[in-house]
Order: sequence, then C-alpha cells, then structure tokens
Amino acid sequence: MNKILVTGGLGYIGSHTVVELLEQGKEVIAIDNLNNSDIRVLSRIEQICGRKPIFIEGDILDKDLLRKVFDEHKPEGIIHFAAYKAVGESTEKPVMYYENNLSGLINLIGVAEEFEVYNFVFSSSCTVYGDTSNSPIGEDEPLQLAISPYGTTKLLGEKILQDLVNFKPFKVVNLRYFNPVGAHPSALIGELPLGVPSNLVPYITQTAAGIREQLVIFGNDYNTPDGTNIRDFIHVVDLAKAHIKALDYAANNDFKLEYFNLGAGKGHSVLEVVKCFERVNDVKLNYRFGERRAGDVVQIWADASKADRVLDWRTELSLETMMESAWKWQQQLGD
Ligand code: NAD
Ligand code: WQD
Repeated sequence: MNKILVTGGLGYIGSHTVVELLEQGKEVIAIDNLNNSDIRVLSRIEQICGRKPIFIEGDILDKDLLRKVFDEHKPEGIIHFAAYKAVGESTEKPVMYYENNLSGLINLIGVAEEFEVYNFVFSSSCTVYGDTSNSPIGEDEPLQLAISPYGTTKLLGEKILQDLVNFKPFKVVNLRYFNPVGAHPSALIGELPLGVPSNLVPYITQTAAGIREQLVIFGNDYNTPDGTNIRDFIHVVDLAKAHIKALDYAANNDFKLEYFNLGAGKGHSVLEVVKCFERVNDVKLNYRFGERRAGDVVQIWADASKADRVLDWRTELSLETMMESAWKWQQQLGD
C-alpha cells in the first residue's frame, strides 16, 4: 500500500501520522476542513519531512468532494481521523457530534466502497470501555454505553464497521487510543486546543505559559495511591507510528476486523504528571486540588500486549519525553 488517504490529516494525531507516513516514503492525500486545525501545519510538515502531502481543504460530509478525491488520487488505504473530539462540547451539541462523526464515517465508507478501497483504519478511543475498574484493559473487555455523545459516536462507529465487514470486503483496524499527549520533537507540530483546554496536558502547558492562571486537579480523594485519577498517557509520535503498523498489517493479512489498544500499558496519576512536568522542565506550576469532574473514570490503563504481539508495535517514549515535548511545543506556539 503506497497511497494513503488521511482524513483529519492536519489535526493533532493526523499531522503526526502524516509525518510518519511521509518518512516511510508513502504518498499521502490529506483532507481536512480546518475546523480544528491550521493550514500552517502543512508547511510545518514540509519543514520536518522535506515534502508535504497532497492537501484537500474540504469536508468529509461532502460526498461529491470525497468521490472527486478518490477518483483523482486513487488511495489504496484510508486512515480516518476526522471527527469532533471534545467530550464536554458533545454534551452541549450532541446532534452536531452525531452528524459530523457518524455521517462523516458513513460517507467515507460509502465512497470507499464505490471505489473499492477496502483497507480502513479507524480512530477509536478507550472511551468505548466506559467506567470500568478492570485495568489493565484488554481488547476483549466488554464495551459499555458511553457517558457522552462523543463516546457514543466512537461506540457506534465501531459497531457500524463491525457490521460492515460481514457484508463487504473491508479490512478494518480499530485503534483504541488511550490518552495521547506530547508533540513532535521538532516542536513544529503539536496539539492546538481552541479556547480553554479541557484535557490535562494542554491545561498544564498553558498554565505554565501564563495563559491560564491555575490548574485545578479534579479530585484528590479517589481510591488511588495519591488520590488522583490514573490514565495511560501515550506519546503522540508513538501513537502515530502504530498507524503505519496497522496499515502494514492490513496489507499483509487476511482478516475482516481487528481491534488494538494503543497505550503505554501503564498508568500515571494526574499528580505524577504534574510533578513530572515540573521536574523535567524545571518549571513551577500553579495548581490546586478541586472537586471531582463529573464523568471521570477513576483509573484506566491499557493491556497493550496485543499490539506488541500482532503489530510488532510498542511505545518507546517516556512520560518525561511527553512532558518535555509538550512544553517545547507550548513555548513556540504563536511564533
Ligand atoms: P483533532 O481535532 O486535532 O483532529 C481532527 C481533525 O479533523 C481536525 O484537523 C479537524 O479540522 C478535522 N475535521 C473534523 N471534522 C471534519 C470534517 N467533517 N471534514 C474534514 N475534516 C474534519 O483531533 P485529534 O486529537 O487529532 O483526534 C483524531 C481522532 O482521534 C479523532 O477521531 C478523535 O476522536 C480520535 N481520538 C482522539 C483522542 C485524543 O485524546 N486526542 C483520543 C482517542 C481518540
Ligand atoms: C485526564 C485526567 C481529569 C484537566 C479524554 C476523553 C477520552 C479520550 C482522551 C478521546 C482526568 C484530569 C484534566 C484539568 C484535571 N479522548 N484533569 N484538570 O478525560 O482521561 O480522556 O481524552 O477519545 O475519550 O474522555 O482526558 O485529559 O481530559 O483528563 O485534573 O484541568 O486529568 O480529571 O483525571 P480523559 P483529560
């Protein structure tokens, strides 16, 4: 597989994946409506790789545009990132989330079917496991009804793909990401949160940069060693690399549907993350403990051994590297 269509290719995980694909010598066609990304990411990718993807500014809700892209560029595989991803926003605008994330997926598989492009990698999330207490979580952990419309779109997205492969010759790899953080070591690409970040690491870096006054750690009375939540943080560069492995797997194996957890396979508490950020960057962070945030899972981390065994993929970058790269990225933002 040489020509890869990447939806949401200028977004956070998409841009890092485009870099890895280009560095592997692939031809990349990226489509993005810039709803949550910036056109400057394209030249940043070129700075890193010495070349850039073919870029189409457009919306995957536009099925005719998708047909034109498939017709003109003839992709052999698809990595589907384009979606809205803010859990809190999805509770305020559920229909907008269903429409973008589910209609977008349905359009894409519809056009992929028309053009007989059957290799499909889907960005799923650990959110499909819901509020579980069984960490480390393997792929066979029962899925739970989602607690947010965003989560529902991931759960239903997976269900649609699970159904599809029974009737059409698609090969689908569902990648369930845990908590992606950090930025490219060049600090040329990273996460661009619009407005007030709801995720931990952008909130930390913006607080350190003086954009936010104080980080509130949501709860320190959980039943965990230091009382704060535990998550499986994964460096976005490690995560991006897993997509190349997933495409290789699809190219070389006969299967319909596969699921992989993508995480480091170990948990870090929110307080550990804060302390690690302070230590590796030699920055004092203004933070306090506050109330629990509604809907937060107490602790969750992946059993990522299946990806190790089957995809020959494992994380290489430490929490320290995640915190260093996130800070380096924050410091150059706005330059
Ligand atoms: P992101 O918002 O940075 O990237 C998504 C990109 O898709 C953006 O550039 C946006 O402009 C684009 N996009 C959205 N709707 C579109 C549409 N209709 N047409 C064309 N482009 C569109 O998000 P991300 O963090 O890179 O996430 C990528 C994928 O991974 C999403 O599907 C997300 O749900 C999933 N995911 C993310 C996380 C996370 O914590 N970041 C965790 C698990 C799963
Ligand atoms: C991490 C921890 C917070 C902000 C979300 C989605 C999940 C997946 C990954 C897409 C929690 C704490 C946070 C702050 C804090 N995304 N926190 N103060 O909730 O684990 O996962 O992103 O699929 O589906 O739900 O990530 O970064 O929001 O929170 O104390 O200002 O940091 O309580 O324990 P979360 P997060």
